[in-house]
Amino acid sequence: MLTGNYYMIYMKFTFSSMLSEMKPSEIRELLKMANTKGLISFGGGMPDPATFPVEELEAIMADIFKNSSANAFQYGVTQGIKPLREQIRRLVKETENIDCTEDQINVTSGSQQALYAVSKVLVEPGRSVITELPTYVGAISANNANKVNMVGIEMDDNGMRTDLLEDKLSKMKAGGKLPEFIYVIPNFHNPAGYTLSLERRKHLIELAVDYNVPIVEDNPYGELRYYGSKIPSIKSMDPDNYVIYMGTFSKVMTPGLRIGYVLGDAEFISKVNLLKQALDLSTNTLSEYIAYEYLKRDIMKKQIPKNIEIYRKKRDAMLKALSDNFPSNSKWSKPDGGMFVWATVDPAIDTTRMLARSVKNGVAYISGVSFHPNAEKRNNMRINFSYPSVEDIHEGIRRLSKTLEEEAAEIESSPAKAQ
Ligand SMILES: Cc1ncc(COP(=O)(O)O)c(C=O)c1O
Repeated sequence: MLTGNYYMIYMKFTFSSMLSEMKPSEIRELLKMANTKGLISFGGGMPDPATFPVEELEAIMADIFKNSSANAFQYGVTQGIKPLREQIRRLVKETENIDCTEDQINVTSGSQQALYAVSKVLVEPGRSVITELPTYVGAISANNANKVNMVGIEMDDNGMRTDLLEDKLSKMKAGGKLPEFIYVIPNFHNPAGYTLSLERRKHLIELAVDYNVPIVEDNPYGELRYYGSKIPSIKSMDPDNYVIYMGTFSKVMTPGLRIGYVLGDAEFISKVNLLKQALDLSTNTLSEYIAYEYLKRDIMKKQIPKNIEIYRKKRDAMLKALSDNFPSNSKWSKPDGGMFVWATVDPAIDTTRMLARSVKNGVAYISGVSFHPNAEKRNNMRINFSYPSVEDIHEGIRRLSKTLEEEAAEIESSPAKAQ
């Protein structure tokens, strides 16, 4: 720093308009507080560290360091190392009955990068895509970063209301502006917890074909089912490359390694490849080698039942705590899997406004507006159950219920404050 007789000169930056739609994520901010002493966080979507396959990863890493360091520490292949793409091809065939070739797969830095890529590759700025309402906050960020409009379709217990989607598509077609794709999270939705029914999956495919609009199927939680039986993936019913499918190792292996993937039409994948050359040249090569060994050694298969056992208990504890404590004018989803419950509270309550009170009372959540591209609704919250302990789930929901009661009482005594 220059001092003494020098004048302080500040560089005045001008910023591109690209980021003007983007707001700092409440989730990122909350993640910073996750370790605040005494605060129980239902905020982030973090896996329980007890699920991380630490010993297995330690053995894998020791082997890689010993036997494959020349490749694992080298620049990678933009599309992803071939052995990993082969394992992913095997994985999606076994778990989701998806047929594809290695060439139709791109390994990405988490599926977040794939979300950014689909929006960037398929949509001109200013054009629209369809999402569920609510939708994943990271998808909102990715679309906002690319200046893509989002048109939300309401959900119910069976996922996206495809009857409403049909109406919307028909209106958009009449207006000469069909969306560029339809984005869905069919299993244990983030944030809503709902699962798209088989009937609606079929309807969705029909609509995609009728209107010639691709579907983007984002499936990070598919393996984390605690109740009920699996519903076929949309991609497995795809008649002809209408579906782009994305998956991730974040929710079953570890998020820190940042390995995800996107698969679909070969030309689309080649465009993602071009984009990745500009973004990062390739996904982290060491992580790719780790993910390859993890799949090759079939560790995922052994790990999933353990994860399910841990999360099922937490999910049950969460639903019990909610029914024991939450005010009677609230309701919430009852997910068969995944990591989230979506709660709708007293319509007079603005959950964003209430967050400060909640944190003061020792509990955090993510308010519903974060998951509404146009901030449509204010009385929802996403509550995560994968990260907190069962004890913290009980105590945190007790604190949250108290917070809701205090907030409602304050609004009641002074309605102007609710504005
Ligand atoms: C629906 C959905 N898609 C994508 C992601 C991104 O996951 P990652 O980038 O860790 O693979 C998440 C993470 O929470 C998610 O919930």
